[in-house]
This record gives sequence, structure tokens and C-alpha cells, in this order.
Amino acid sequence: MLAMNKIKILGTTVIVIAATIVISSCKDKRSTGWEYAPNMYEHIAYDPDQKNDNFKDGKTAQVPPAGTIPVGFVKFDYPKTKEGYELAGTEVKSPLPQTQANFADGKLLFAHFCSPCHGLSGQGDGLVVQHGYPAPPSYSKGQSSRGGAMKDLTDGKIYHTITYGVNAMGSYASQLEPTERWKVIMYVHHLQTL
Ligand code: HEC
Repeated sequence: MLAMNKIKILGTTVIVIAATIVISSCKDKRSTGWEYAPNMYEHIAYDPDQKNDNFKDGKTAQVPPAGTIPVGFVKFDYPKTKEGYELAGTEVKSPLPQTQANFADGKLLFAHFCSPCHGLSGQGDGLVVQHGYPAPPSYSKGQSSRGGAMKDLTDGKIYHTITYGVNAMGSYASQLEPTERWKVIMYVHHLQTL
């Protein structure tokens, strides 16, 4: 009997406390209530949308200076034109060391991203070509549509092609990051010799 009463009293107390918290928290809709660790609300740093007298235009969010690049971004300052392609072809060289590991990665990436059209051995006879897609020229025996033999394509020309695409071939810039492009290129150079 006594134990039953104790549980009832405890239960009522919990309900009363909970109701008090709920009701008191609804009282003033504009109040943030009791702030735990107020530093998280009233921090020292400026918010992007806050007024800021340190800048001439009085805004915190500033446009980055011209030429700003994100951390880790690799610049490739060659336009998507024939001239950009030719210039990249003479100036841009692979920064990757010729290692077995890079070659193996390149082979795998090529199989995934390029072989559907170019074929596993780079002869331009991939699976989609067998189903009617325009055939790319063979890396070892074909002629580039931009002049010269495919086997003579340089680092920079291939990098330009992967980055921007050419005619029926789309850009692979969003699928392959710069280091991966260089690995694929290492493998394409091997296919050029077949
Ligand atoms: C959807 C099919 C397709 C895929 C996938 C593809 N290519 Fe191509 N590629 C082509 C075609 C078609 C051409 C010929 C385009 C032209 O010159 O008109 C070509 C041309 C090229 C050339 C020659 C460019 C030049 O300078 O003449 C290179 C190098 C090349 N591809 C590399 C790659 C690499 C590396 C990959 C994988 C990252 C790849 N391609 C993926 C279809 C493809």
C-alpha cells in the first residue's frame, strides 16, 4: 500500500515538473529560453550575413579576389580550343612517377571509364561501339581528328582531351580527378605502343 503511494507521488511529481517545463517554455515565443553554452549562440566570429565595418561595403561575405582557387584545386589554364589543346600538348607534362602502382591504377581506371568506347586494348572497338556508337581511332594505328597520329599524342594533349572531351567524347573531368587522369594517361601511353 505504502509502496503504491510512493510510486503515485513520484509519478505526479514527474508530470508536474514536465508540465511546468513545457508550459514555461511556451510563454515567450521570441525568447531562446535558457541557453546552454551561450558561446555557441553569441560567438566572436562574424556571421556571413552580418554587418561588418571592417570592409568598405560594410558586408562580412566578401567576393574572393580574382584568381582565387580552392585549397587542393589543380589549375589547368588551357582553354577548350584547338590552340589550348596544342599549347597544353607542348607545355604540360605528367607530374606522376612511372611506378607499377600508378600503372596498375591507370589500367583499372581505363577499363572502367574508357574501354566501353576505346576497347580494352585501345583499338576503338569497345562494347558501345559494337552497338553502333561512333568508333574512336585506335591509339596505336589511328589518326587524330585534330591532326597527327594517335600514337604521337603527348601527355598534355591527352590531359586536355580527358578534361574537356572532343566531339563525340564527353569530358571526364567530373569522374576523374587530376591524379587519376595522369594515371589513365600512363596507361594510354602503353596502349599507343601496341
Ligand atoms: C563515349 C565513348 C568514349 C569514352 C567513354 C571515351 N572516349 Fe575517348 N574518344 C571517343 C571518340 C568517339 C573519340 C574521337 C573523337 C574525335 O576526334 O572526333 C575519342 C578520342 C580520344 C582521344 C584522342 C583525342 C585527340 O587528340 O584526337 C583520346 C586521347 C581519348 N579519346 C582518351 C580517352 C580516355 C583517356 C578516356 C577515359 C577517361 C576516354 N577517351 C573515354 C569516345 C570515347
